[in-house]
Amino acid sequence: MLTPRQGILEILPYVPGKSSIEGKLESTKLSANESALGPSLKALLAFREAGNCLHLYPDGTSIELRQALGLANGLNPDRIVCGAGSDELLYNLARGYAGPGDEILFGEHGFNVYPIVAHCVGAKPVKVPEKNLTFDVDATLSRVNNKTRIVFIANPNNPTGSYIPTVELKRLRAGLRDDILLVIDCAYAEFVTSPDYNIGFDLVDGAENTVVTRTFSKIYALASLRIGWAYCPPSITDVLNRLRAPFNLSTASQLAGKAAVEDVGHVAAARDHNTVWLPWLSDRLTECGLTVYPSAANFLLVRFPDDSAHNSQAAMAFFSSKGLILRETSIYGLPECLRVTIGLEEAMKALEFSAKEFMAK
Ligand SMILES: Cc1ncc(COP(=O)(O)O)c(C=O)c1O
Repeated sequence: MLTPRQGILEILPYVPGKSSIEGKLESTKLSANESALGPSLKALLAFREAGNCLHLYPDGTSIELRQALGLANGLNPDRIVCGAGSDELLYNLARGYAGPGDEILFGEHGFNVYPIVAHCVGAKPVKVPEKNLTFDVDATLSRVNNKTRIVFIANPNNPTGSYIPTVELKRLRAGLRDDILLVIDCAYAEFVTSPDYNIGFDLVDGAENTVVTRTFSKIYALASLRIGWAYCPPSITDVLNRLRAPFNLSTASQLAGKAAVEDVGHVAAARDHNTVWLPWLSDRLTECGLTVYPSAANFLLVRFPDDSAHNSQAAMAFFSSKGLILRETSIYGLPECLRVTIGLEEAMKALEFSAKEFMAK
């Protein structure tokens, strides 16, 4: 009988946030952490330009996009690998560095792609307990054994919004054996304003065992184009370039991505919008009697009461009836919570109004 490889049937396929409400033509999607302001106009124009060369294969090396990223971030473009979303890079890092019998560690409420990529390569996904919904360095280091191959950390993490400061990140790397790959997934880095936060590029420069991954799906609002990138030491760059598909980024993605990186004003506006509305929404929901966890990203994790009239399922249904789509977080071991993305002012005020009505029921 034909059977798939070890681990494949253990994969619980990724369930994305809902994007529409049955029976409603109009709704506001606050379920996938896409930037409230949408993409840069310059990126949209560049995307249209790609229509002129649909018959040609894209540049397989994404050189112009890598050069733009290198310039914007002060990095060597030769050590940047682009991926079809950062998801592709996470999959390929697992394919490159783990296999059957190995263990891949991540926080218990860590991004849900990590267990999927572990199963994909036949490795064992290991959830490490967190402290206050935050990645716990000590718990992770004490869970390492001779089978550990990769540690994934989303910093800040989705769906909790929590992050660990630079000193903790350094302590994590220093405490891991040299032959363990540390993947620092910085999908939300552009939104972080805390002075004790650092992406971790210096850790990548310091040895041959740390990678930082980034995405264009969040602050750049180009999720549909599937663009991610990784900053790597030379040996990992080589591995990722061997593993990726030859033409993994379309010309449209490369052109729009480059224009988006260069439009620094638009990125700043998206960050500023978040800096205003993240605390605003957090305060309003707290005033309604909800528990809102601190977030460094462009979303909030909200805990609902336990009674059946006000629990997270009732809230999800209530917000849906008002045309507001939030994200369920049961898959993350947080069934009592919902996650909400920071949207435009109108959506934030509609959410505040609905939350008040819901809690007063
Ligand atoms: C923490 C984290 N990492 C990676 C990703 C994947 O992003 P991409 O769209 O680049 O594949 C997401 C998307 O939700 C995320 O939240």
